[in-house]
Amino acid sequence: MEATGPLPHTPVLPEGRPGHHGPARPVHRNKAPVALITGASSGIGAAVAARFAAEGGWQLLLNGRDETRLGQVAARCAATPLPCDLSEPAGCGQLVDAAFDVAGGVDVLVAGAGIGWAGPFTTMPPAAIDEVLAVDLAAVVHLTRRVLPHIVQRDRGHLLFVGSIAGAVGVREEAVYSAAKAAVAAFAESLRYELAGTGVQVSVVVPGAVNTPFFARRGAPYQRSRPRPIPAARVADAVWDAVAHGRSEVFVPGWLQLPARVKGLAPALFRRLATRFA
Ligand SMILES: NC(=O)c1ccc[n+]([C@@H]2O[C@H](COP(=O)([O-])OP(=O)(O)OC[C@H]3O[C@@H](n4cnc5c(N)ncnc54)[C@H](OP(=O)(O)O)[C@@H]3O)[C@@H](O)[C@H]2O)c1
Repeated sequence: MEATGPLPHTPVLPEGRPGHHGPARPVHRNKAPVALITGASSGIGAAVAARFAAEGGWQLLLNGRDETRLGQVAARCAATPLPCDLSEPAGCGQLVDAAFDVAGGVDVLVAGAGIGWAGPFTTMPPAAIDEVLAVDLAAVVHLTRRVLPHIVQRDRGHLLFVGSIAGAVGVREEAVYSAAKAAVAAFAESLRYELAGTGVQVSVVVPGAVNTPFFARRGAPYQRSRPRPIPAARVADAVWDAVAHGRSEVFVPGWLQLPARVKGLAPALFRRLATRFA
């Protein structure tokens, strides 16, 4: 877990860049900071919405496709539902336009929408490849492309991507999903370099297995004994922690950073262990 500097500890985002001691700029204290959360109609995204709502003081904009489920989560969180499909860049553009219309901007983007696919790669239908890459990777990039100029202009804000341990270590029979999540982590890392010295933070929360409809929806149940599935609320706590304390990478549960670090430091050893125990 790595802290990159102070970020919004309170719903009122701090002005300017961390450690910046120049003249204070006006603080828009009357306006609640805006969080746009994708994947909010289910699982982790719904839990993140509930977590932000419980903190209080946020204007919450929630995205998903299922209007009924999204509306129910939004009602519980006093949030605005902005349903749309993110599998095309146009959908990402529509969502950000709608968010700007409703709230005038976005301070925090939580990109949580995602889908899985499991099975031997050689049996993966081309349409499923495209969909996983579209929702798990391209949508994150396109949403960021739309939101970031505004955030950069104000020199404050936070991008948070929901990654996966699959992206950190690779998982057998989840090759495309793992590749998409690894790319999201590399995208975040690269943006961090580009945004260094600004007031913009970039975080990736890296969950292991989480107890959500994700596995049922991909049509393949979770069958490993480790990591044990955790409640979505634990991931939501990690997301909040990353936003509130400016953490660039948070594994949840925390012990998962160990295999990721071993793979980084000793990939051959990691591969031997993974082949033996995975
Ligand atoms: N569950 C796990 O074990 C686990 C582990 C690591 C990482 N993750 C990641 O966590 C994130 C959330 O997953 P989850 O476990 O909460 O799964 P989930 O309960 O199935 O929720 C997935 C969410 O993504 C939305 N979504 C899917 N396709 C979309 C599209 N084309 N356009 C817009 N929204 C779309 C869904 O919207 P609708 O329901 O309205 O269609 C839903 O809100 C994903 O990025 C996933 O990769 C999950």
